[in-house]
Amino acid sequence: MNELSQQIAERIANTPEQKISFREFMRHALYTPNLGYYCQNRLPIGESGDFVTAPEISALFSQCLARQALEIFKHIPDSSILELGAGLGSLACDVLLYLEKENSLPVQYFILDLSGSLQCAQKERIQQYCPHLLSKVVWLSTWPENFSGLVIANEVLDAMPVDILRFKQEDCQLAFITHSAKGFDWRYDPIEDPDLQKMAEDIRESLPQDALEQEYITEINPTLSPWFKGLSEHLVQAVVLIIDYGFLETEYYHPDRSMGTLMCHYQQQAHADPLIHIGQQDLTAHVDFSAVIKAATQAEFNVLGYTTQASFLLALGLLDLAGENLSLIDHYALAQQIKYLTLPSEMGELFKVLALGKNYTLTLSGFKKPY
Ligand SMILES: C[S@@+](CC[C@H](N)C(=O)[O-])C[C@H]1O[C@@H](n2cnc3c(N)ncnc32)[C@H](O)[C@@H]1O
Repeated sequence: MNELSQQIAERIANTPEQKISFREFMRHALYTPNLGYYCQNRLPIGESGDFVTAPEISALFSQCLARQALEIFKHIPDSSILELGAGLGSLACDVLLYLEKENSLPVQYFILDLSGSLQCAQKERIQQYCPHLLSKVVWLSTWPENFSGLVIANEVLDAMPVDILRFKQEDCQLAFITHSAKGFDWRYDPIEDPDLQKMAEDIRESLPQDALEQEYITEINPTLSPWFKGLSEHLVQAVVLIIDYGFLETEYYHPDRSMGTLMCHYQQQAHADPLIHIGQQDLTAHVDFSAVIKAATQAEFNVLGYTTQASFLLALGLLDLAGENLSLIDHYALAQQIKYLTLPSEMGELFKVLALGKNYTLTLSGFKKPY
């Protein structure tokens, strides 16, 4: 057993019922300082890590976001950017470099990330690729005060700890993790928290009713509401762009997803067992965008747009950003990147972009039909 597994086992042993919720387990596995998956020296993202994200695939992705930022900056005075969960810092570099070329740098580029080791990686990357812009970047440990501008969260919501619910006919239970000499194990018990009970009942309405004859397992992120409320309270005027893999509820609660969407990524391989490689593998769940929209609108955001990543990037001119007069090799490399970002079989359709406005109602170019 590694040190993190031991700590989690001890935590379970010290609880009255010898169990912790799956959400607590996921939080420890990902975010325990120095030991959690996102908090170690070994970097999880990129070709030497366990998975690759859009900003690591191509600078074109970040340049499209920068184009959307330019438009927003025209309507919000003294705009800054707040990037949540900035990973390796590539998006920050590419957005800042693009905006600099357009003479439209933000007042500040704030980064809020739970992981200290990723914060170090971000600083190193900015120092390496755009040292002259380092002074623009401010790392935060909590929401900024009176923020105006653009908030970006790429693949952040899928990295938030989730609870797991198991529905069967009239019954609904919550997943817990136990520990014994045999190792970690699952246990399902009735839900005791009344707020979670209410959320589970709401989900039941969206489930395919014939799937309830068998078991239907799904995830829920109960922290969405407080998270959006916290964000909203710190914004004066802003657009929030949330980019992630997931669906609206009609697709999310599909009969084919009766085992839920929780996935583990270990050395570029995907599998479904979160109780192995603890602290060494990513744990992630697809995003229920209907739940996100509900939590956001309750927190006084309005929906400015919702579309696929492909449609968003193409509407922002992804193809003309790729440039002219390229060598054959560069042309081939960019064509591959564009395919990866936009093809339905790659990131193009599974990934969605949701734009939320706080005191902002103008149409955004990313949501205009690209063709
Ligand atoms: C899957 S990685 C994506 C990183 C980066 N955005 C990218 O696209 O490469 C998830 C990131 O979100 C961060 N994160 C997770 N929950 C967060 C939260 N509540 N606030 C800020 N950052 C968070 C993690 O530390 C990590 O940097």
